[in-house]
Amino acid sequence: MKIIDNIKDLKAEISCFKGSIGLVPTMGALHDGHKSLIDRAVKENDNVVVSVFVNPIQFGAGEDLDKYPRQLQKDASLCENAGVKIVFAPKVSEMYSDRKDNLTLICPPYDAVNKLCGKSRPGHFDGVCSVVAKLFNLTKATRAYFGQKDAQQLFIIKKMVKDLDFDIEIVPCPIVRESDGLALSSRNKYLTEKERKIALNISKALFSTKNLFDSGVKDIRTLTDNCLEIMKELDVEYIEFADRNSFELLQNEADNNTIILVAARTPETNTRLIDNINL
Ligand code: PAJ
Repeated sequence: MKIIDNIKDLKAEISCFKGSIGLVPTMGALHDGHKSLIDRAVKENDNVVVSVFVNPIQFGAGEDLDKYPRQLQKDASLCENAGVKIVFAPKVSEMYSDRKDNLTLICPPYDAVNKLCGKSRPGHFDGVCSVVAKLFNLTKATRAYFGQKDAQQLFIIKKMVKDLDFDIEIVPCPIVRESDGLALSSRNKYLTEKERKIALNISKALFSTKNLFDSGVKDIRTLTDNCLEIMKELDVEYIEFADRNSFELLQNEADNNTIILVAARTPETNTRLIDNINL
């Protein structure tokens, strides 16, 4: 396996690949959620590239760009053991040779970003789409793997690929959770012991609300109240119900195509966590 930090070497290596190329874009601090994407990519492709890049243009002012966990050597050994051929870990100056406000960006439409995570993180999905498009171009990947944990991101990337005719297959991968239900996230590293227990109420709320739905309750108000009650120790940014195919937000009744999406902050370190569940 090679760790590559520049575009020239990456292109040279990619040009020697024979067969299909699987790409797993990440920001590093790899955990079993990332590993599930990597394992699947290794299984389904002749060559796998994992990118490890904390992408500054998808972070807003006051967000955790500076303290985001960085552990390249550890990430690289996880990748090597999984059968990855290249870890692409460029510096910011290698990816962006110009000022942030002087770059050509891919901007997903207002309808897709003016809700859920996009609402509190203006410009976030412009940054995500722009870096992902660059990675698609650089790696010439056949397939790219994304987690359903970031459901809005997955929806927006699929839309970008369709709207802009990228010649790539997007492979959605299920959410990986701790044995007690907490969705794995690089940001779980920020949590204090007390917050770890409080954060568990996010997945508890989602599972409980799915049970309530399965028992016949379809009214979104009632289902939302159930979530809020279980998450009362968290600072809830949003609980939304959406159609999982169109991502249109729903107000009245949930059905079998509904996804519940949640973002909430923990009380001590103010860590922002997201999770979701399909009904
Ligand atoms: P990052 O948060 O590192 O996540 C990389 C990929 O891992 C994403 O597709 C994400 O959905 C997936 N992932 C994270 N936690 C997961 C879990 N518990 N189960 C399943 N998949 C999980 O998402 C990003 O990075 C960035 O926005 C990126 C796409 C790399 C662009 O910079």
